[in-house]
Amino acid sequence: MADLRVNFAGVTFKNPLVLASATPGWDGEGMKRAALAGIGGVVPKTIGPVQDWAAHPRNGRLQLIKNGSKAIGMVNLELFTTKTREDWIKEDLAIAKQGGAVMQVSVLAMPHPEETAELVDEIQSTGLVDLLELNVSCPMPASTVGMHIGKSAELTYKQAKIAKSAAKIPLTVKLTPNVSDMVEIAQAVKDAGADGVTISNSIRSFAGVDIETGMPLLRGYGGYTGPAIKPVIMRHLSEVARAVDIPISAIGGVMSFKEIVEYIMLGASTVQTCTAVMWNGYSIITKFLEDLENWMDDKGYKSLDEIRGIALPHITTVEELAKLPPKFANVDVDKCNNCGKCEKVCMYRAISSDDSAACVDQTKCDGCGLCVQWCPKGAIELR
Ligand SMILES: Cc1cc2nc3c(=O)[nH]c(=O)nc-3n(C[C@H](O)[C@H](O)[C@H](O)COP(=O)(O)O)c2cc1C
Repeated sequence: MADLRVNFAGVTFKNPLVLASATPGWDGEGMKRAALAGIGGVVPKTIGPVQDWAAHPRNGRLQLIKNGSKAIGMVNLELFTTKTREDWIKEDLAIAKQGGAVMQVSVLAMPHPEETAELVDEIQSTGLVDLLELNVSCPMPASTVGMHIGKSAELTYKQAKIAKSAAKIPLTVKLTPNVSDMVEIAQAVKDAGADGVTISNSIRSFAGVDIETGMPLLRGYGGYTGPAIKPVIMRHLSEVARAVDIPISAIGGVMSFKEIVEYIMLGASTVQTCTAVMWNGYSIITKFLEDLENWMDDKGYKSLDEIRGIALPHITTVEELAKLPPKFANVDVDKCNNCGKCEKVCMYRAISSDDSAACVDQTKCDGCGLCVQWCPKGAIELR
């Protein structure tokens, strides 16, 4: 049987799956439920100051984003925990710990770095925490915290440095995807001496407009999460993994065990999940882990070390790819049902139908591969 254990930032997890900092870790009980479902690590909602204006319950803050009837993502306006520091320290962290998962605790990088150091010290003094995750990446606040720190390499360096000097346990920094180049920020985190990076928080976004009323679906800018964000996160993850030698925890759009594998193949050590749990409940964790173990056994992998980063050496530039010999669409007439979909999606007008099947004019085909992926019968191949 495959061994799912991983090491991240010097801490051993029994498997790579971690509950991301968000609503499923609203309190100790939520974290414990995730742990009892088998998860390797748990992160609570980010612990910071409790502000009266952001009190709980609130007046609506989540919006599913759909393509037709299928949810492809979610925008949220949720801020930090509404539990007090005392609640977490005296009660909730102990309840979470009963679940037996690695305790990776999210602390807010405060407007003044000295306050960050105090918070780090307070939380680690509980003796219940294995790893700290410094949040410089919340996309909502219009002030001096969250991504307003994380989009600057200099501010991130200052916060990571002071948090690391206060930390007696390993420290990872959760980065924002709302930057054009995450590599320089991850390098700043490494230079500050932190033990890992978490890639990443949600994407600052706008949920949409109700066309009957003209009203925005949510009246503020929020964080976009779920399956739609995976390609954006994978870009940042792979760029950082290729350029900076630092352990990485990846997050964004995990909806099955496959995304866990993909993230590890792009260099991640652990993989976090939030939206999948919010949409399916904590039992989805058990399913992901069973599927991951079965997949590894079927492939004959004994450990996740065998696959970590294996996709990275194959990533290249479009300039290099342009030097490769061209490929053209080829139709298997025995499989083709002549539905016409390939003809509609071919913007090069290279595909037409005769009486029985689609045919490709290879002098016009640009080898884009869109017809291959839309063909309902798997009848087209690029060669
Ligand atoms: C409702 C909600 C609340 C969140 N709260 C936090 C938070 O307090 N701290 C934090 O670092 N990230 C927070 N996140 C971001 C998640 O930890 C995670 O980075 C993001 O959801 C992407 O992962 P997913 O696609 O698996 O949901 C929140 C996300 C959601 C949906």
